[in-house]
Amino acid sequence: MTTTRIASLSHLRQGGFFYEVRKLKGFHHKDLLGMGQLSVEDIELILDTAESLKEISHRDIKKVPTLRGKSIINFFYEPSTRTRTSFEVAAKRLSADTLSLSASTSSMVKGETLIDTARNLQAMNPDVIVLRHSSSGAPHLLASVMEAGVINAGDGINEHPTQALLDMFTIREKKGRIRGLEIAIIGDIAHSRVARSNIIGLTKMGAQVTVSGPPTMMPMDIESMGVKVEYDPKKAVEGKDVVMVLRIQLERQSKLLFPTLREYAQFFGLNKAIVEKAKKDVIVMHPGPMNRGVEIDSPVADGPYSVILDQVANGVAVRMAILYLLIGGAKSDHVD
Ligand code: CP
Repeated sequence: MTTTRIASLSHLRQGGFFYEVRKLKGFHHKDLLGMGQLSVEDIELILDTAESLKEISHRDIKKVPTLRGKSIINFFYEPSTRTRTSFEVAAKRLSADTLSLSASTSSMVKGETLIDTARNLQAMNPDVIVLRHSSSGAPHLLASVMEAGVINAGDGINEHPTQALLDMFTIREKKGRIRGLEIAIIGDIAHSRVARSNIIGLTKMGAQVTVSGPPTMMPMDIESMGVKVEYDPKKAVEGKDVVMVLRIQLERQSKLLFPTLREYAQFFGLNKAIVEKAKKDVIVMHPGPMNRGVEIDSPVADGPYSVILDQVANGVAVRMAILYLLIGGAKSDHVD
């Protein structure tokens, strides 16, 4: 947590002070495309801002005027429950105008390219586009042709930075810190944008990350990202503070990379016996959607260690913070 933690963050709720804090703390990004672009200070600022904004969701009237007059387009080219809804809720809680576009209802089904779609959306002068796309790099392409800010809400197997930020927020909330924690990430590491963003973010923030999963779902040279590899999930979980479980991304595998779901569950599914090898106060995380009985057993998903629904609740606060930090001030503040 920053020592200069925005001490007067309570003032944030009073509208105009937002911009001053944003300028003061120096968040100078036009887009949020990946965790690599964020410094430790940027991440701390996002988490501190989210911590302050979280309270708004518990009021009777869950709305502040901070982003009044700003427009946000949610453009989801892949299915989503949590990310799409929480961006919409976050924007509305800050009084921004939102509209949603999906692939099946856009003119991309008639052959319009992503760049032409982006240029047409830009012509309507939105402030931010939140994009989820099946192709890695799609948000980067969009950002290169748009004046509006672009937020990556998941691009192919590349990154899902807002998920990593809400995961980090949840870890910090439950453990009081990130630095020095031992964290196991178990599952389909190769196809998981959540794993990639979390590995970049968590190692940057000083956590020690171990990844585990079938060798066929482990990227070659993953150690170069600063993580340890332990193929046996029981050993991977041993003594850990945090266990993060990932869904198998069947939609991104051209052929099945393990014999059967039953065998996957038997060897890599997180059950009570495996969780008990972690520290007594371990927290269990999952970005959702879960496949119960495959990568995680119900008694673990719904059990005392699980913070899975806290992750979802925190997603709103973290996305409020990101929207505010990106567009809460003047566009002239942006330098990249
Ligand atoms: N965690 C996550 O991205 O969930 P959705 O696919 O439902 O948005």
